[in-house]
Formats: sequence, C-alpha cells, structure tokens
Amino acid sequence: MNSVNSTNTWLTHFNKDYFDSLLSFRQSEGYGRLGRQWESEFGGLYYSQVLPHRDILSIVVGVSVADILFRNAIDIKLKWPNDILVNGKKLGGIICQFQGGNVVMGLGININNKSSLATSISLSDLGCNIDKLSFINDLTKQIQLNMDRTNPEIIEQFMTYDCLMGKVVSWQEGKGIVEKISEDGRLVVKDNNTNKSIFLTDEVHLE
Ligand code: BTN
Repeated sequence: MNSVNSTNTWLTHFNKDYFDSLLSFRQSEGYGRLGRQWESEFGGLYYSQVLPHRDILSIVVGVSVADILFRNAIDIKLKWPNDILVNGKKLGGIICQFQGGNVVMGLGININNKSSLATSISLSDLGCNIDKLSFINDLTKQIQLNMDRTNPEIIEQFMTYDCLMGKVVSWQEGKGIVEKISEDGRLVVKDNNTNKSIFLTDEVHLE
C-alpha cells in the first residue's frame, strides 16, 4: 500500500489467515507499544503480519529480525522485550496484538527515513541498503524456522543479541540488576531494595 493509517489497525480489521501481511510506504497513525506514536514517514519499513499465537512470540520475532540484520553485517542488539537497537539507538520496534487465537505482529524499521529523534538510527546512517521485499521474504522464513524452536533455544539465541544482562535498570516501582530472561520470556531482575529476584513483564529503562 502507498499509505494507510496503521498496518496493524488495517490488518486487525481485515486479517484472514496466518501469514497474511501488509507493507505500507508510510502510515498516518502509526503507533508503538504503550500507545506511543510511531514516526512513519516515507523511507521506513512499516509491516504487519498475522501469526499463530505462541508464548514469547514477540521475542521469537525480535530474534528473527536480529538474525537477518546480523547476516547483513549489522551489529544488532535487542533490548528486552522487543526494541531493536544499534549503537544504543533505536533502529526498530515490534508490537504484538492478540486478536482471538491470532496475533497481529507489527514491525517498524528505520531504513532510509529521517527521524526527528536523536535516539533513533536508520540503516542508511549505517551505510546499509536492504531491499524491503527480500527482507520481508527472509523474515517470514526465519519466523517459521524460529517458531519450531523451544523457548530455551530462542532465549539462548536472544542472549547473543541482548544488551541488558548485568546492567542496572529501573522500572515503575524500582531499580535493580538484570539477571536473565526466564523460560516464559520475563525479565528477571535482582531488586536493589529487597535483594530478591523479581520477574518483570513490562519494559525497563537502562540507568
Ligand atoms: C515499539 O517499539 O513501540 C513498537 C513499534 C511498532 C511500529 C510498527 S510500524 C508497523 C506497525 N503499524 C503500527 O502502527 N505499528 C507497527
């Protein structure tokens, strides 16, 4: 499509089968997690796909995206649960919205769009040029491959891209050191106040 309000909104209304997907050149109402706006000017990748439900799905997708970008010589990092980073800046993000038994997965990647945010980076900033259609083709294959892997295998692969382990992070109610990602995809953090391990489900901030 040339332009749509949001590929996720569109696919949520019209999705039919697993792996149905939508790619748009821009979005007028792109959104990210926690209701945040997602800048969606021409040049970026705005893509949504219907996927079967699976626990840790957003981690499976993040690992799949990272696998492909890594093969394209990008020093890719993943910030739990689903931020895609390079050099500490945001290259892309993933949102998974549950709808009945399905999930509408949305992926935004800065390709050669110019972001207004100093905290963002694009593939063109890194001198990398990827073809959106072949990227999506590779992504579908990689997701299908990774879907067959067990949770421990996926988490192990996530760890090769992880940028949080051993770091101090803060969340709404506290601060602590990241220990691991649990088998069910939660971030395990040692709480500074109680010295106990707690399991987080929402995003954290690096201190
Ligand atoms: C995040 O990091 O908060 C997730 C961002 C997800 C953005 C993508 S762009 C394609 C799809 N359509 C949307 O409106 N959002 C997702």
